[in-house]
Amino acid sequence: MSRLEELKDRIDSREAKIGVIGLGYVGLPLAVEFAKAGFTVVGFDVDGEKIRALDAGESYIEDVPAKDVKEQKAAGRLSATTDFAKLSTTDIINICVPTPLTRTKDPDVSHMAKAIEDIAKRLRSGQLVVLGSTTYPGTTSELLIPMLEGSGLTIGTDFSVAFAPERIDPGNSKFTVQNVPKVVGGETPLCTELASKVYGTIFDQVVPVSSTATAEMVKLLENTFRSINIGLANEVALMCDRLGLDVWEVIDAAATKPYGFMRFVPGPGLGGHCIPVDPSYLSWKMKSLNFSARFIELAIDINTSMPGHVARRVADLLNEDRLAVNGARVLILGVAYKPDVGDVRESPAIDVIEALEAKGADISYHDPHVSEVMIGDTTFKNVELSDEVLTGCDIAVIVTDHSEIDWDRVVAKAPRVFDTRNATKNVREGRERIRKL
Ligand SMILES: NC(=O)c1ccc[n+]([C@@H]2O[C@H](COP(=O)([O-])OP(=O)(O)OC[C@H]3O[C@@H](n4cnc5c(N)ncnc54)[C@H](O)[C@@H]3O)[C@@H](O)[C@H]2O)c1
Repeated sequence: MSRLEELKDRIDSREAKIGVIGLGYVGLPLAVEFAKAGFTVVGFDVDGEKIRALDAGESYIEDVPAKDVKEQKAAGRLSATTDFAKLSTTDIINICVPTPLTRTKDPDVSHMAKAIEDIAKRLRSGQLVVLGSTTYPGTTSELLIPMLEGSGLTIGTDFSVAFAPERIDPGNSKFTVQNVPKVVGGETPLCTELASKVYGTIFDQVVPVSSTATAEMVKLLENTFRSINIGLANEVALMCDRLGLDVWEVIDAAATKPYGFMRFVPGPGLGGHCIPVDPSYLSWKMKSLNFSARFIELAIDINTSMPGHVARRVADLLNEDRLAVNGARVLILGVAYKPDVGDVRESPAIDVIEALEAKGADISYHDPHVSEVMIGDTTFKNVELSDEVLTGCDIAVIVTDHSEIDWDRVVAKAPRVFDTRNATKNVREGRERIRKL
């Protein structure tokens, strides 16, 4: 029996040792789930601070309880290290490193390349390598496999490779790691079988597809679909603004149609590591094939214009009361990119703050999940939402609709409110002070 065939039995018996490279929003929950399923898991990260936290039994990801980290560590199933030499002790390696954009908005594959290089140096017969980072179609076969074959071993006979996109939704307690189906595309049928087997131990459903590139494209379709539909909702918001209509009323009424319509909402712009980034991976790849991904570019154009639109609407609202933005005390409510998380990556709040600061506004923010945020050279610190803070601002701008914020109180105390999320929909008193996107 080949070592790859043997791996099937080792997965069944939980003897297979699992490595996870990149212990962030994606990698840490995955590592903990595999440990909970009975595997011995080693996490790898270049960030020594994360390793220190995990060694101390702490969790820095809101969806991963510290209790789980402590329990799995105590059971000897979970450890973390910056020592990549330990990769040689693992049988299955998951790559969960960031895939951002460069300053010119092209894919930045440097983190992936470094992780693959670290694996290639120690690759041994019988290992399965699964790429989970979101990336352009062709990455696994054009970048990962050639780098691994540089070790002298052969894909399919010596080692296995699959792409299995991550669909985690941080902060979502209804859809967690287990109950979101896992798409898996292997380089060979055995690669798909092995990856499906190992993911079948922690996911309720595994969806095998015919190739690594198909699996890569599945993930990009999902996030491009969101980007384009949010772009449409944002453009409808701009149209409703011109037409003097309430976009939220329009969307909510349209969403009563039981078929053929899916509810997407406008907002102050896109945020997070996925939706503002992933479609650019696809359009970049298509450019290399002389194909212009027009829907993607249009959605990016509209979505990235939203923070500027918010800043203009805030200026208009102040202007109605003969107030200048220059010197106005603007209280931003929520700087995380979405409700009930503390992640500020690509958050539209940053662009809104920058646009208002450029006009001379005096900015402060409240966000129960973010104690401080660095914008340009300035570090902003969370202010408590006291009555004085609310009454003392000239305008409160709702950028993120965290569930713990009391919107009745915000509207009761702040002199004017600009609501980009329809967070104040249930507020009854003082609605005349609210303007919505
Ligand atoms: N966050 C999400 O909601 C989400 C959802 C689905 C898919 N994804 C995708 O998953 C991937 C990871 O995203 P994330 O949100 O977990 O990122 P993250 O920034 O939270 O975590 C990535 C981790 O990788 C580490 N790292 C960077 N380079 C490394 C290297 N060479 N070796 C070892 N560790 C390294 C970083 O220190 C960090 O701890 C990205 O491709 C992203 O697009 C993210």
